[in-house]
This record gives sequence, C-alpha cells and structure tokens, in this order.
Amino acid sequence: MPPLVEMKDIYKIYHMGDTEIHALDGISLTIEKGEFVAIVGQSGSGKSTCMNIIGCLDVPTRGTYRLNGKDISKYSDDELAMVRNKMLGFIFQQYNLLPKLTVEENVALPLLYGGYSDREQKIRAHAALKKVGLDSKAKNLPTQLSGGQQQRVSIARALAGDPSVILADEPTGALDSRTGREVMTFLRNLHKEGNTIVLITHDNSIAAQAKRIVRITDGRIVYDGPAEGDKIVAMQDRAGEDEA
Ligand SMILES: Nc1ncnc2c1ncn2[C@@H]1O[C@H](COP(=O)(O)OP(=O)(O)OP(=O)(O)O)[C@@H](O)[C@H]1O
Ligand SMILES: [Mg+2]
Repeated sequence: MPPLVEMKDIYKIYHMGDTEIHALDGISLTIEKGEFVAIVGQSGSGKSTCMNIIGCLDVPTRGTYRLNGKDISKYSDDELAMVRNKMLGFIFQQYNLLPKLTVEENVALPLLYGGYSDREQKIRAHAALKKVGLDSKAKNLPTQLSGGQQQRVSIARALAGDPSVILADEPTGALDSRTGREVMTFLRNLHKEGNTIVLITHDNSIAAQAKRIVRITDGRIVYDGPAEGDKIVAMQDRAGEDEA
C-alpha cells in the first residue's frame, strides 16, 4: 500500500517584483493512513501553503506530490476538484458555512457535488450530524448556532463524504479555549475511529494532542516526531522570532 500523502522535495515559490518568496523550501513529508499529525510553526512559516498542497487546492512549483500513490501534478482543475470532493475533508478557522442554507443542506452540499442521490445525501448528512451531536439542529440556519456548534457542523460536512484525509487549518482559532477543547476532543475521537487527520495550528498545547508533530520554519521542516521532542525545538523557534 502506498502512503496516503507523499511529498518529495516540494517547493512553492512566489515572485513579488524582483524577490522570490520560498513559502515552501524543499519539504519532504510522508503521512500514512490512520495518522494524526499536527503541522506547527510561526505565522508565515508555510503551514497553510503546505496544507493547500496536501489538499489539492494548490500545486507545487517544484517537487512531486502523490496522494494515495497517484501523482496529481498533471491533473486538470476538474480532476483536482474531483479528488478534493472524493478524498479530502476540509475544516477551516472560519467554518465557511453558507448562511442561507440550513445546517443539513450545508453538510449535504459536497455530497450534491459528489453526485450522490437526494436520499443518500440525506442519510449521510444525518449520520454525520449525529456524529457531532447536532442532528437536532438539522433544520436550523448556521447563524442560529454558537461558534462551537458551527465548527461542529463544518466537521460534519468534512466527514459526510467519508474522506481519506481530514485537513483542519486552525480549527480552534476562532473559538474560546473551552469550545476549542471540545472541537479537539471530536478530532481525537475521529482519529480513534481510524480517520487520518492533518491539523494545522500555531498553538503548541493543541499540537501536543496529536501523535506526531511536524514543525515548519521558513518553509522547511525543522522537527518531525512525537510531541515531547518538539518542546525544545519550539523554544528555539520562538527565540529566533524574538531576534528577528
Ligand atoms: N499568494 C501568495 N503570494 C505571495 N506570497 C504568499 C502567497 N501566499 C503565501 N505567501 C507567503 O508565503 C509564506 C507562507 O505563507 P502561509 O500562508 O503558508 O503561512 P502560515 O504558516 O499559514 O501563516 P499563518 O500562521 O499566519 O496562517 C508567507 O511569507 C506568505 O507571505
Ligand atoms: Mg495559515
């Protein structure tokens, strides 16, 4: 079985006038099925750029990326959209729920795009809402829910299509610490059920809940291993920031 995620010497380079910005500067990263990985680093270190490539929302300037063994670099935009829909579940800091659709319709939307029948959409949306404890809110609008509940709806939406990888970019960033902990409990439970989760955060205490930490500084991986070992590297990372 090929690894789920396999990045080899990935560069993402932006040109701003005469200067080159190496948002990713030679990243190699392998993630196996069932892992719970936190990608951490200072603001501007390249975390979201990395997640956008893993999530097929963006393509690298150089290097190869294989998702479930398939090199996606030659894929068209339509093919990438299909891969995103079938294989990936996204959770963002700002929930990204559509305000005019009910909770149930929001969760079902990717299933609609994925070509599921009306009946299948309903069944899957309800099962996903039940998982996050919000089946009673199916007919509500997102604005009638608390921030933590809205984030749980967005988790249900990410889960509904049964994705191979769940990608969460600062999922607790807009929440108070208690609600943030609840959301983390959900993610941990999803991991226990066998889901593969990639979590992006700049919060070290949240990252410590993952099994594996990948720390990025200036577009490069400076640590990859268990949370305990990251502590010293995190301190050095902060010290570097103070000097800058
Ligand atoms: N479209 C773009 N054009 C030019 N530069 C970009 C673009 N997107 C990102 N960058 C630059 O690439 C670097 C990495 O950005 P990225 O968004 O990946 O950081 P991040 O680690 O997610 O930061 P944060 O914690 O603030 O979200 C930054 O220096 C950023 O300014
Ligand atoms: Mg970011």
